[in-house]
Amino acid sequence: MDRQLRFDSMLIHGGAEPGPAGATAVPIVQSSSFAYETAEALEDVFRGRAAGQVYTRIGNPTSEALEKRLALLEGGGAAIATASGMAAITTAVLTILRAGDEILSSSSLFGGTFSLFRDTLSNFGITACFVDPLDLDGFRGAINERTRLLFVETIGNPKLDVPDIPALARIAHEAGIPIMVDSTVSTPYLANGAQLEADILAYSTSKYINGTGTTIGGAIIDRGVFDWNSPKFPHFEQFYKKYRAFAFTARARKLVHKDVGACAAPFNSFLLTEGIQTLALRMERHCSNALALARFLKGHPKVAWVSYPGLEDSPQHAVASRLYGGRYGGLLIFGTGDKASAFKVINGLRLSRNLANIGDAKTLVIHPASTICADYNAEEKALMGVTEDLIRVSVGIEDCLDIVEDFKQSLDAI
Ligand SMILES: Cc1ncc(COP(=O)(O)O)c(C=O)c1O
Repeated sequence: MDRQLRFDSMLIHGGAEPGPAGATAVPIVQSSSFAYETAEALEDVFRGRAAGQVYTRIGNPTSEALEKRLALLEGGGAAIATASGMAAITTAVLTILRAGDEILSSSSLFGGTFSLFRDTLSNFGITACFVDPLDLDGFRGAINERTRLLFVETIGNPKLDVPDIPALARIAHEAGIPIMVDSTVSTPYLANGAQLEADILAYSTSKYINGTGTTIGGAIIDRGVFDWNSPKFPHFEQFYKKYRAFAFTARARKLVHKDVGACAAPFNSFLLTEGIQTLALRMERHCSNALALARFLKGHPKVAWVSYPGLEDSPQHAVASRLYGGRYGGLLIFGTGDKASAFKVINGLRLSRNLANIGDAKTLVIHPASTICADYNAEEKALMGVTEDLIRVSVGIEDCLDIVEDFKQSLDAI
């Protein structure tokens, strides 16, 4: 039945099994491990001859329900729920790359991913080459014999540039490497992995999937479409022989995810299966509120500039319209000319909260240059589009008039 359901129904029913005593919510299986009657039965599960759970670091029924739903929403495949978005990206990248390999990455990235690629992984011999995600020729030209992965965010956080993901997928595939997409900001509601032609998705579920700012989580989705049977990936050989199209998930589950141990907590997976059910309704409102706020800000005399892919004069508008069906997400950025006035705007807001998160039902703001991007030098900030006056807004689902009034009263007062 799952495969026949439309997206909004899949959010609610996808992968759901009847719970004990007729329970309709996904049951929270708060157990570290799972007992078997006989030594033979447990051996069979360990060896993969029988299905079953053994230990929550490796798999858990509540997390499995979330995994099934996410995989269906991305257009099919296999999923792994992780402790956070960063855990998902780290686990997925470590599954593919080995020392000496290189990631060809978009330069427009969430700060945590940028520092993972630039600092942490380089200590282990995995390097990264950063290219402007709108520069397709730049990507083509940067591929070398060590490149093993193309990584890109659907809508760069916080720059909000919108790369042509299917075009980047073609560039990756011509070079015989997979494309991994972080769709935290767009979510499968704007476009899923199949529509974007992504091989692997690795993203944060802490944001829009959760929807209420209560839970940290992440997910890796393997669409089972990349051919790992390649001399570029000799470390996939044993997994390819047994698991074919799902060699990536097998290598992740049996090695990296198990060994790194960044598993999803069952209670968090439960909260995510609850939150995801309203994703379509919330995203619709996030998108319409963000467009209304962007239009208001554009007309305000104290605002120097506004960037939102939904604005018709945005350089991102055409690609975003083609890829995301006329929906442009809940994030916008704007500037008031300098840091001092940006701080005044933030300090004057009464409804919107000043904090480091996105994708909450509440409207959130942050000044990235002094917070999440504070550790980067001027050149790196420029690469990520972070100017001293930039305010990022994660537009919530409150009444749009209240959001606009909040920004109006704060801007009027500076
Ligand atoms: C685009 C993007 N990817 C990944 C992450 C990391 O997710 P988490 O905070 O769940 O580790 C974030 C967090 O802000 C993000 O915005």
